[in-house]
Amino acid sequence: KTIYFVTPTYPRPQQVPELTRLAHTLMHVPRIHWIVADDQPTCSDQVSTILKRSGLPYTHISSPKPYIYKYANFPRGVANRRAALNWLLDNVSEGVLYFGDDDNTVDLQLFEEIRHTKRVSMFPVGLIGGYGVSSPIVKNGKIVGFFDSWPASRTFPVDMAGFAVNIEILNPSATMPFIAGHEEDKFLVSLGVKLEDIEPLAENCSKVLVWHTRTEKFKKPTLKINIDKLDNLPKYQHF
Ligand code: UGA
Ligand code: MN
Repeated sequence: KTIYFVTPTYPRPQQVPELTRLAHTLMHVPRIHWIVADDQPTCSDQVSTILKRSGLPYTHISSPKPYIYKYANFPRGVANRRAALNWLLDNVSEGVLYFGDDDNTVDLQLFEEIRHTKRVSMFPVGLIGGYGVSSPIVKNGKIVGFFDSWPASRTFPVDMAGFAVNIEILNPSATMPFIAGHEEDKFLVSLGVKLEDIEPLAENCSKVLVWHTRTEKFKKPTLKINIDKLDNLPKYQHF
């Protein structure tokens, strides 16, 4: 089956390096289709260039967050992930969906595991929260609970990178809410997922094959010269 790898992204100084690194991972994966969902009114040239150069099969769509979500701790990457879900519903009937943010690191082994997802599969994610890992708890080959530093009354306390879904179970009523911290749980609940449907991967969730690496916050440089006068330097003020 083809893996539909959905990446929400937005412009900032880290965007090009993050997407370059992710592209170079995906270039090693057979039967992958990269859906890059731009949090912008139109698809950006810097993202398009990376996609074209990768040689990967891709779809580049844009869907900016509504203006009312521009406050602190806003839900991130929701409008654009929703646009990707709509694109999948309209265009794809078979395959596996995976939400891979642009600030994650993925082991190539993960792709071969999620490719065979029957309904929903789950696996640990490294570098998450105070516990350092978020993972389903497996007993006798079945998921019986979750280990996550922020349970927050969630039915499925998992990270966005901690599950994959067979596209056959996607339906128009499956959606992601604009509620920070609850996007993945409410999406899985809206799909009608039951605990017993979930397949544990990564050797019964004993291996970490994806990490929320993140990139250090970028501080605007303080320049003693006017870089506008130097046309070979990047113009940081564009961000
Ligand atoms: C964490 C989770 O990793 C996200 O999957 C989840 O959507 C988010 O929490 C949430 O609960 O709101 P976090 O690391 O805090 O996300 O946020 P980012 O990594 O900045 O954003 C998640 C994804 O959305 C990234 O791929 C990012 O490029 C994208 N994003 C972020 C946008 O498309 N627009 C934004 O304004 C910010
Ligand atoms: Mn992140």
